[in-house]
Amino acid sequence: MRKWIVAGNWKMHNTISESVALAYAIKEGTTGLKNGEVVVAPPFTALHSVGEAIKGSAVALAAQNMYYEDKGAFTGEVSPSMLTDAGCKYVIIGHSERRKYFNESDENVNLKVMKALATGLKPIVCVGETDGERNKGVTQSVVNRQVRKALAGVNKIDHIVIAYEPVWAIGTGKVATSAQAEDVHDFIRRLLVEIYGCMADDVRILYGGSVTKDNIGELIAMEDIDGALVGGASLKPDDFLGIINKMP
Ligand code: PGA
Repeated sequence: MRKWIVAGNWKMHNTISESVALAYAIKEGTTGLKNGEVVVAPPFTALHSVGEAIKGSAVALAAQNMYYEDKGAFTGEVSPSMLTDAGCKYVIIGHSERRKYFNESDENVNLKVMKALATGLKPIVCVGETDGERNKGVTQSVVNRQVRKALAGVNKIDHIVIAYEPVWAIGTGKVATSAQAEDVHDFIRRLLVEIYGCMADDVRILYGGSVTKDNIGELIAMEDIDGALVGGASLKPDDFLGIINKMP
């Protein structure tokens, strides 16, 4: 039985004090939570303070990105050991905004995944097709390439979480239908089974892209959808807790 995850990706929003206030509201709203995991990914500047705020709660801390070296002359980058030091358990890797605006390649994503695992961080690996790719009918081949390349050289996937985020659904209000999402989740699951055998049954595959408390119910009812990676709706406690409350 896979434990669901609802993860909030705060992106480039919230000062330290705003982040801490949001973290406290989520902490309070999730007391007693047992059957799933709630994760928040504040901006780097707020990681430590949010980590302190959620101590002793059911909420876990994630970073939105990392570099794949331990230390050195890499101005502007943040290393995985700095993230564990700040209290992170998870790290989002290969988000489509990083791929699009910061030229992150499948190879970069793979280096980051390997390094995160070696440092004891659990990667939330994002994959997903663009609008143009879906229209061309190449969704499966794009996702196939992204998953295989991201996981190249990874022998054990028990610490990996995959997030399927169709790029056309991110921040657009255009959520994938539950059938469209399940199609790709099922495809990813079969791909993981092909590579990793029965280990793949335990991997959580999250859906992301315009998730709200109103549409999550249908999505989470699907066999291979094990939770959500939430952007916009993770910034308001009522919206985010509304999603968590719909989990089984
Ligand atoms: P959204 O973002 O929920 O605002 O569409 C999701 C994401 O980018 O992870």
